[in-house]
Amino acid sequence: MIERNDSCWCGSGKKFKKCHYPKLNEEASNISQKYLDNFGILIKTKKQIEGIRRSCKLAAEILDKLCKAAKKGVCTQDLDDLANELHNEAGAIPAPLNYGSPPFPKSICTSLNEVICHGIPSKKDILKEGDILNIDVTSILDGYFGDCSKMVIIGDTTEEKKNVIQTSYDCLMESIKILKPGVKIFEIANVIEAIAKKRSCSVVNQFVGHGVGVFFHEPPQIPHSYNNIMIPVVAGMTFTIEPMINAGVKEAVIDKDEWTARTKDLKPSAQFEHTILITENGHEILTLPSSK
Ligand code: MF3
Ligand code: CO
Ligand code: CO
Repeated sequence: MIERNDSCWCGSGKKFKKCHYPKLNEEASNISQKYLDNFGILIKTKKQIEGIRRSCKLAAEILDKLCKAAKKGVCTQDLDDLANELHNEAGAIPAPLNYGSPPFPKSICTSLNEVICHGIPSKKDILKEGDILNIDVTSILDGYFGDCSKMVIIGDTTEEKKNVIQTSYDCLMESIKILKPGVKIFEIANVIEAIAKKRSCSVVNQFVGHGVGVFFHEPPQIPHSYNNIMIPVVAGMTFTIEPMINAGVKEAVIDKDEWTARTKDLKPSAQFEHTILITENGHEILTLPSSK
């Protein structure tokens, strides 16, 4: 982290405190393009935003349909099959398929109970009463990416699971509410950590939100746990917030498949995710289905 007496990141040669030291209502227009270039942050053009808006709406609509299909007796592979069908129908591509190394083998992520994220759909995972499931959809439409996820409860479940779900939802929605040009990235995590603490939950720090839109995972990283990232958000940025909240300890352990991330203590975990656009005056949640 840059200290007050270090030289400023903007290259002026002045001390940070005399130059761009963060004031809460700092104008986004003070932020030089050079600064954003240094971090590799893509400020989207109008045309890109239109494309990202469409891919996000599609991802949200597919996610809604998958959530409705997630019922007792259905296996997570059935949800993956349906996701493939819905992407095909829309002329879109599911981004997870073959992504990364080793290549992710399926089209969506399905994370059950103590799985934090990156769960792999399987015929063996048959949904049963009391299960909680995160479904994560990333769609590519005309080359643009939209990324979102939600929790589903199968039947009724325990208070512990309900609490972790409600907490992850509130962490996402409350942290979105503060977004407008000039807000620093670290402020997002402060909102999330405060809510999680109040509800006796922990915040995963091994996975983060991310820029998205032109690529699947773009800079900047958006940590959900305490951090010192002073980068302000500016109009035209598109990124996700996707807090992973655990009922027990925050630590994640990765399975032999090199993807599935589980809580170390095997207690439940929950996550919601939206793709967000920073606008001149505030923000817009892009991953909403058109019916809402
Ligand atoms: N959709 C996830 C995210 O929110 C990433 C999944 S990577 C995959 O960033 F390879 F597992 F699909
Ligand atoms: Co994401
Ligand atoms: Co996602």
